[in-house]
Amino acid sequence: MGRIVVTDRAGERHEIKLEPGDNVMDPLRELSNGIEALCGGMCSCATCHVFVEPEWAAKLEGAQDDELELLEETENYRKDESRLSCQIEFSDKLDGMRFTIAPEE
Ligand code: FES
Repeated sequence: MGRIVVTDRAGERHEIKLEPGDNVMDPLRELSNGIEALCGGMCSCATCHVFVEPEWAAKLEGAQDDELELLEETENYRKDESRLSCQIEFSDKLDGMRFTIAPEE
C-alpha cells in the first residue's frame, strides 16, 4: 500500500491510497473535481492529463509515442510535467508522488 497526493481542478488536495499495479487514473475519476477519462484508459482522449511534479516525473517510465503525441496536442502541455494518468501504473517507487490535474480543455 502506498499513496499519491493529488491537487484537483478546484485546488483541493487529496491523499489517495494505492496498491502496486493500480492504474493511477481510476481514483481520479471518483473525485468531484477530477478527470473525465472519456476513453477509459485507452490512450486516445487526453482527458486524464496531469502535471506531475518534476522530481516525480523523473521517476516515471518515459511516455510512449502515442501518449506523447496526444499530450503535445493539448493546450496546456508542459514538456517536463505532462502525463496521461491512465498510462501510469503505481509502484512502490512512486509512493508519495505529487501531481495536479490539468485544466479542462
Ligand atoms: S483516459 Fe483517455 S487518454 Fe487517458
